[in-house]
Amino acid sequence: MRIVAISGSLRVISTNSLLVRVAKMQAPPEVEFIIYEGLGDLPHFSSEIDGEASPESVQNFRKLLQSADGVIISTPEYAYGMPGSLKNALDWTVSSGEFDNKPVATISASPSASGGERAHASLLLTLGAISARVVVGGKLTIPMIRTKLNPAGELTDLATVEALHTLVMALIQGIESAGE
Ligand code: FNR
Repeated sequence: MRIVAISGSLRVISTNSLLVRVAKMQAPPEVEFIIYEGLGDLPHFSSEIDGEASPESVQNFRKLLQSADGVIISTPEYAYGMPGSLKNALDWTVSSGEFDNKPVATISASPSASGGERAHASLLLTLGAISARVVVGGKLTIPMIRTKLNPAGELTDLATVEALHTLVMALIQGIESAGE
């Protein structure tokens, strides 16, 4: 089983990227867990550069998604929505359909008390448009994320680690039940 994870933040010290790395540690060893690192390399979507001769970075992104049994996306909130770079990446899958019926789990995290719930809602709206299948138990909103890190920037809040574990297991269960 292969899970691909996407952080919607391009920041080097991103909290969402940290959550994706901690999610990776929660996966059982027999699960291949790949973190997609190419979000910032994708060109701005235009249907005029889509198709068979689409840019190499897009082709690589699509191939990786095609090889995934399930996907985890962790999004920050920018101006009440998901970051443009993440929306851009999802736009590249509209014509090629990689998310069609794909089991997905979603995370939002924010330093605010809302936990990025509006970005989470915008992510779910787009995932609905591309027919992704958000699994049962596959949504996690994490408020006040910076209070859950130690001074070294590590995730030390055990409840959050546990919630990530539960989320990863829900995705695995969702993938397995899709194969029955
Ligand atoms: C933010 N941030 C933010 N947070 C939030 O809860 N709601 C919002 O609408 C916004 N808007 C926003 C806009 C811009 C331009 C910036 C730079 C920041 C704060 C944001 O959640 C915070 O910087 C996170 O830490 C970003 O996620 P990563 O990079 O840590 O994963």
